Amino acid sequence: MLATGNAVSPPESRIPGFYRLPLLERLQHLAERLGVPLDELKQRLAHGGLSADVADKTIENAIGVYGLPLGLALNFRVNGVDRWVPMVVEEPSVIAAASNAAKMVRASGGFLASMLDTCMTGQIELRAVADLTRARQAIEAAKAQLLQIAADATPSLVGRGGGPRDLEVRELGPDTLVVHIYVDCQNAMGANLVNTIAEALGPELARLTESQLGLRILTNLCDRRRVQASCRIEFAHLVSVRADDDLATNQASGRAVAEAVVGASQFAERDPYRAATHNKGVMNGVDSVVIATGNDYRAVEAGAHAYAARTGRYQPLAKWTLGDECLQGKIEMPLALGIVGGTIRIHPTAQLALALLDVKSASELAEVAACVGLASNLAALRALGTVGIQSGHMSLHARSVAVAAGAELGEVDAVARLLIAGTVISESAARAIIEHIRSNAGERP
Ligand code: MEV
Repeated sequence: MLATGNAVSPPESRIPGFYRLPLLERLQHLAERLGVPLDELKQRLAHGGLSADVADKTIENAIGVYGLPLGLALNFRVNGVDRWVPMVVEEPSVIAAASNAAKMVRASGGFLASMLDTCMTGQIELRAVADLTRARQAIEAAKAQLLQIAADATPSLVGRGGGPRDLEVRELGPDTLVVHIYVDCQNAMGANLVNTIAEALGPELARLTESQLGLRILTNLCDRRRVQASCRIEFAHLVSVRADDDLATNQASGRAVAEAVVGASQFAERDPYRAATHNKGVMNGVDSVVIATGNDYRAVEAGAHAYAARTGRYQPLAKWTLGDECLQGKIEMPLALGIVGGTIRIHPTAQLALALLDVKSASELAEVAACVGLASNLAALRALGTVGIQSGHMSLHARSVAVAAGAELGEVDAVARLLIAGTVISESAARAIIEHIRSNAGERP
């Protein structure tokens, strides 16, 4: 784990001009704030943080490691605490948009977030149950012993204050029962813990119910481990707060921007086709934090979308309404994250990400991730409801096209500017611009 020596605590999440600093100066800034040597920081970030040797021990048939950009979203204040938010994402504009939205929310006091429940759910399937009522009664009567079997299967979790909390029986068709065991996994994501418990309970449940034992596995629809986050933004703070904001929102009043965001939210509530894209925008934020911190993004995605469809109709995870002279946003979703175990044990960059976030529990991490999801959604709806998404996207897209076409670091901004000014943003256009810039530079005395 990363030992943060003389960390400045708590960090200030507003770092004006951070995006203008050269990469090395950003690292120097972070090293100073964290109280760690710059070299250690660089080492943890080199080659995506993971060596091919460690990758070889992690998965089968490893052939290398795969890099993705890691950035820092700024301006987040959650429950009164400033947070630096590391995000891993390949899509340009996601981090800038989340930071910009967080800045607006911060101006109105920041995000509020809390866990609604903290238990993972394990499923034990019982097939060919002869008498469902008798089987249910047998399970209810043996509940205390069953919870003891579950606790005995994970003694160290119980020692840390977690463990099985309750169980419930659900009927699935005429001869099938599913038992749900609810487990407080503390600071672990908990997949292994829950699966261990489900497997330990299976034989006794089958014996009690005179049934055939089926699957024993956690559900990723972990609706007993839900997080909620909310924010309110005064109308005045919804108009441009960034000097270089691409949105010409100064032309619109704050109320008009709020109404546009609410309209976009209602579109998602009415139409699952729109809700899917709306939730993609939410997950731009959530997944980026989940990946940066070494968590299981497939599990989070599966849970998020199953939860969005829980009523039988796919719904937006985040919704926006008008309040008293303000816009109000709220998100609620299952979020099973860990700050110990799994990839975190072996991944130096995931450890660094957690140190940057400075969260003390898995619940705090989930709270921050939910706020990033809400911020990403706000940024998308604000743009979509006003000037459209493309103007902001295009300038960042042009930069990545410039890099792909071979622009040197010092050339990227100029190439991107000329690409946008031209008719097409393509690699061949970028190559022509680069050639032009270089030949002109060569002509200079
Ligand atoms: C793009 O990555 C995400 C958006 O499509 C989200 C949305 O439409 O709400 C902009």
